[in-house]
Amino acid sequence: ADGEISTKTKKQTLNIAHRGASGYAPENTLAAFEKAVDMKAEMIELDVQMSKDGELVVIHDTTVDRTTDGTGAVKDLTYEEIAELDAGSFFSEEFVGEKIPTLGEVLDQFRGRTGILIEIKSPYLYPEIEQKVADELISRNMDKPNNNKIIVQSFDHQSMKTFQSILPSVPVGVLLSYSPDGISDAQLADFARYAEYVNPNKDMMDADLLERIHEFGMKSHPWTVRDQESADFLLELEVDGIITDYPDYVDPHK
Ligand code: G3P
Ligand code: CA
Repeated sequence: ADGEISTKTKKQTLNIAHRGASGYAPENTLAAFEKAVDMKAEMIELDVQMSKDGELVVIHDTTVDRTTDGTGAVKDLTYEEIAELDAGSFFSEEFVGEKIPTLGEVLDQFRGRTGILIEIKSPYLYPEIEQKVADELISRNMDKPNNNKIIVQSFDHQSMKTFQSILPSVPVGVLLSYSPDGISDAQLADFARYAEYVNPNKDMMDADLLERIHEFGMKSHPWTVRDQESADFLLELEVDGIITDYPDYVDPHK
């Protein structure tokens, strides 16, 4: 009505830069994470896998082919071989010389500057990767309750159960691909036994799903926003966080 003042306070939705600000810099590189911090993202999302000799490296695909000047499976390359690759030139000339970072490098460079959402990618390829990720956090004293500044997530829900049992102080999330069947209450009840986040494909998110996730005591960071309309829709729903390649779509004022 005329003159009526809305008393509804908008909930703070976390702005989470997917693989860093990957719309503006090569994904999963220090340049993309720095860009995300410049753009005031509250968290950076990254994908972690393991080299042949057991180093945790930050890369999305299970091969280096798409995002570097090399070829081969991450699990078949030594860290020395991976460290030589150029992970910037696939994106643009400006980023020639960017490297595939280790998880440790990202933790050291960004702790205290932004939250870090660590996705364990394809853990079936990497025996005991959960323990290795936990060790990286423990050795840096980053395994303490931390206001959710560190979250670990995976599409592999068994891996998240494993991680949660190794390091219960660090919250875990379950990732869900799009399914036309949605997410049942039985699934949510199961997730709630170990997870704090249910992070679905954004095309599954609506008011009903968000409410049910909250009723089960969990939060939700849907992915991956690459257009303003999707960002606006999710902001209106007041999801807990939005995982996006373009941090400016989530918060144009920052
Ligand atoms: O953070 C969620 C999102 O990253 C999952 O998809 O394929 O980009 O790792 P993907
Ligand atoms: Ca990811």
